Amino acid sequence: VLPALLVALLPFICGGWLDGPQSTFDTKGPVAESQLQVFYVTLWVTGILFVIVAAVLAYATLKFKARSSDDEHAEPPPQGHGNPFVEIGLIVGSILALVVIAVPTLKAIWFTYEVPEEERADAYQITATGYQWWFKFTYEDEMTPQPFGGEAPLVTANELVIPAGRAVHIELRTVDVIHSFWVPKLAGKVDMMPNRGNHLWLKADEPGYFWGQCAEYCGESHAVMRFRVIALAEDDFNNWLTNQKLPAREVAVPEGATAPTTFASYGEFEVNQPGWTEEFDADPFGRWQAQQIPAADEDPALIAAGRQYFMENRCAGCHTVRGHDGMGVIGPDLTRIGSRTTVAAGLLENSPENLYRWITEPNHVKPGNFMYNTRKVTPGGMVVMPGYVMNDPETGDPITDIEITPEEAHALVAYLHSLK
Ligand code: CUA
Repeated sequence: VLPALLVALLPFICGGWLDGPQSTFDTKGPVAESQLQVFYVTLWVTGILFVIVAAVLAYATLKFKARSSDDEHAEPPPQGHGNPFVEIGLIVGSILALVVIAVPTLKAIWFTYEVPEEERADAYQITATGYQWWFKFTYEDEMTPQPFGGEAPLVTANELVIPAGRAVHIELRTVDVIHSFWVPKLAGKVDMMPNRGNHLWLKADEPGYFWGQCAEYCGESHAVMRFRVIALAEDDFNNWLTNQKLPAREVAVPEGATAPTTFASYGEFEVNQPGWTEEFDADPFGRWQAQQIPAADEDPALIAAGRQYFMENRCAGCHTVRGHDGMGVIGPDLTRIGSRTTVAAGLLENSPENLYRWITEPNHVKPGNFMYNTRKVTPGGMVVMPGYVMNDPETGDPITDIEITPEEAHALVAYLHSLK
């Protein structure tokens, strides 16, 4: 009984975890809140039943633990065929308990399935697409000029910026395997299924910074397929959109606006909360040696060199930088990568050091992204981020067909970091 009680009370005993970055107990929006209420109703009903059943069991175990007599031929205890009142009571009680659980469950299912009628006209539309192992976000109503001319919806990656206080309807897609879209503080997980349209909606009550995570096993780097949700107040959100929609060469801040163009200025809340990234500072493979990165993202010559490398080598074949001729759509859109808070699908904080690490050793940051001397093709047929590993960390030998010198890598970092 005691271990069972401990398990049942675990969420409450571990009170310190209740507001952790991916806690479902610290809800910040109506969808997650309605789902949490279902949890509490179920916990209370089953908890009370558990206590009653455990008490009866304990009573019977203690009361009848021994025969009343050692005489094997003593009269057996009185035999009965059951008590109709007890039996009917158990059936009615069970039905009642199920109804008490079912009513809020059904209400939550209907509520979470579709944006409520009164908010539907104002709901913001976004499509989230799962890739091994990152997320693409398409802002369906925000048209922006394309490299070949014409317009298409704004595309970003791994960082879902949404308007706070407004319902957001999200279509869920995948290009390869099954992923699952989950922002624990805002909404329960919903799968991204091949050849099947799924959707969810969520709303952040206040501006804030939330963690998201792929919640369906999808291959080697499933555990590090993460993303962040940044809910901005209306003005901040509009400024962010204005900035994101500009092609890369026209980076500008609307006059008089305080646009969040860098990851240090997203608003009043703290983006890099202490302790949240500590686990990533450790190097699980023991191979990474910290690189000194020159403070180069303001050096025009270095940025130009990085841009040239980006275009002339294989980067631009997979990645888009609108305004800079990159037009690949296989990898994440990098038009404003310098303005994101993270790189490598929410895994590493966006700093020149981490960008350098990600570019030069992608397979050490995200296992499965790269196989030595080959380009990996996933089951869905997509080529994933190849390695630009300069040298084998153990032998010092070149180990890829694409070599990059430290100078080139520094230039590339300066270029990407300048894309704000
Ligand atoms: Cu995508 Cu797990």
